[in-house]
Formats: sequence, C-alpha cells, structure tokens
Amino acid sequence: MGSLKAVITCVNAYVPDYILTNKELETLVDTNDEWIRTRTGIEERRLLKGEGKGTSELASQAVLGLLEKSGTDPLDVDLIIVATVTADMHFPDTATITAHKTGMKNAFGFDLSAACSGFLFALTTGARYVESGNYKKVIVVGADKMSSIMDFEDRSTCILFGDGGGAVLLEPQESPYGFMDSILHSDGAGEQYLHMKGGGSRYPSTHETVDKKMHYLFQDGRPVFKAAVKGMSSSISALLKKNALSPDDISWIIPHQANKRILNAVADYLDFPIERVAINIEKYGNTTAATIPICLWEWEKKLKEGDNLILTAFGGGFTWGAIYIKWAYNGNNN
Ligand code: COA
Repeated sequence: MGSLKAVITCVNAYVPDYILTNKELETLVDTNDEWIRTRTGIEERRLLKGEGKGTSELASQAVLGLLEKSGTDPLDVDLIIVATVTADMHFPDTATITAHKTGMKNAFGFDLSAACSGFLFALTTGARYVESGNYKKVIVVGADKMSSIMDFEDRSTCILFGDGGGAVLLEPQESPYGFMDSILHSDGAGEQYLHMKGGGSRYPSTHETVDKKMHYLFQDGRPVFKAAVKGMSSSISALLKKNALSPDDISWIIPHQANKRILNAVADYLDFPIERVAINIEKYGNTTAATIPICLWEWEKKLKEGDNLILTAFGGGFTWGAIYIKWAYNGNNN
C-alpha cells in the first residue's frame, strides 16, 4: 500500500471534424506546405465551425466521452477545472458552463489561465484537491478554440494553431501510482513575445482595438522558440534530478505540441530518444491547453501500468514546467 495519490483513471479527447490542411492555408496566406512541414512539423489542424460554438463545446464533448468511457455518473463529480485562454466569454467561466452542459449538477468549477502550460497547472491543482481526501472525482480539462483568436491574414501564426479539447478523471487511490511531482514556473517578462492584448481590462474592446488587430494572438516566434526549448529541457532535468530518475527510467515524454523542431531540440538536450517522445503535432497543430490531454488520449493504448511519464509544456506568460506521473493502468484494457 502507498499513500493517497491522485490517479488518472481515464482520459478522453475531442477534436472537431473540420480539417484545415496546409494546402487550404496556401489559398489564404503566402505560405506553402513544404515550409510549414519543415519549419513546424504540422500537416493539418482541426477547426470548430458553427455559430455560437465556443470552447465549452470542445470541453463538453471531451467530458461527455470521459463520463461514458469511465462509467461515471455526472452527479458524482465534485470539481471540474478547465484550462483555457479562449474561454466562451469573460464570465461565467467555461468550467461552470461545461458542468451545466454535461449534467454535473453537484460539481463546482473554475477556469485556469496559463496558456500552453494550462493543463500542467490545472492537473497539479486538481491533484492537490484529490490528495486532500475531500474530493473523490475531479475532472481536469484542457481546451482551446484557437481559431477564435487567429488572424488568418498573418502567416506567421495562423499556420500553427488548431482547436481541440481533452479531459482526464482524477480519483484518490492508496496506490504507488498516480501524480508524483511537478515543477511549475512563470515569468511575466515573456508577455512582450506572446500575447493577445485586446478585450481585457487594460485595452477593453473598441473600434480602435479591432482596427489594430488587438483581438488576435501575437507571437514573436524566435525568442519564444528559444525560451521553449530552454524551459522544457530545464524543468524536465530538474524534475528528474529531484526524483532521482534518469532518462532511462522514463517510458514516455508527453509534451506540449508547439513545433516539432522544439521537441527534437528538447530530446537532444536531454539525450532522450525521440522515439519515446509522443508527437502528434502533424495532425492537430498547437491546440494550446489541449495538446497534452489529446496526446495522452492518443497514446493511452501504448501506456502500461507503472510507466513513468513526464508531461511538459511551455507557453504564453511565459509559463512552463513538467509533471512526473506513474501511469496506473494498461491502456489496452480499455
Ligand atoms: N510560410 C512561409 N514563410 C514564412 C511563414 C509561413 N507560414 N512564416 C514565416 N515565414 C518566413 C518569414 O517571413 C521569414 O522570412 P524572411 O527570412 O524573408 O524574413 C522566414 O520565414 C523565417 O521566419 P522565422 O520567424 O525566423 O521562422 P522560424 O524558423 O523561427 O519559424 C515559427 C517560425 C513561428 C514556426 C517558430 O519561430 C516557432 O515555432 N516559434 C515558437 C512557437 C512556440 O513554441 N510557441 C509556444 C507557445 S505555445
């Protein structure tokens, strides 16, 4: 018997049907399939279409599937945390809207904003609730409708992002498996390189903010690229050292998917075989808070009880970090 751990007992994800290919992007901006593939690794991404559909649609679809797959009664869920930077609206929060849409009448919920690191921050937060012993079923979601803040006239950003949502169920178990440790960081000096300025309290929406395209994501790619490699590599190194682990002890790194070249550089830096880094950026692009749970969902069948996993991310803020998990079940049993 181990201590009370927050264990991921189920994972599910949802990506919308519409596929935006590199070829279609060639018709929108001055770019080409070859450039996008070689500079980013992305081949296509999904877009959520439909009037009035926001991030809660992505979150709700992921959560409904999770409830069904795990045989969970929505009335038994205590808490839902939604990591997102594309909330349906300023308020109410997307977690509360998602709880309502999925029948979780007894749950409370809140959103967590940490850009591409949102899922790491939300999972760490959810784990603490579960470890307290007071919360038996906690759902942690990462979901973003990035197409809602994309400038489809800016080739340097619109090729990178996509829409999607993923969710995990956390439950308390007396177990050697589950959430083991995390190292999280943020540094507001990164604001200048990656942000969306308009529509918040500093620059409320006006005709001028719209004319100046302040409601779109802005990114200065090169400094973000360098900081992402450094942030993910250093947090993984520190987490391994803290837990007396070597790269050989790790079955998979499940990273945020921002650019395949970033993942190659992180693997090189750590001397970690790229074959054990989960990569699916070619299919979905960067779905911000959703990349890690979508990746976990796609990798679930390959995961085995006792596998040591490292989740890692870097994003706007800057925010970054890594989580160490001992996976609790054989994925092919599902
Ligand atoms: N198609 C064709 N050419 C493009 C292009 C596109 N979609 N986007 C940019 N270019 C051009 C640039 O205009 C530039 O041309 P120039 O040399 O004539 O000025 C050239 O390609 C190189 O641009 P640069 O921005 O230096 O490319 P890059 O190799 O840094 O790749 C990113 C750009 C955005 C893919 C890369 O910087 C990146 O992935 N950054 C980090 C993203 C990230 O991690 N975000 C994390 C937060 S989630």
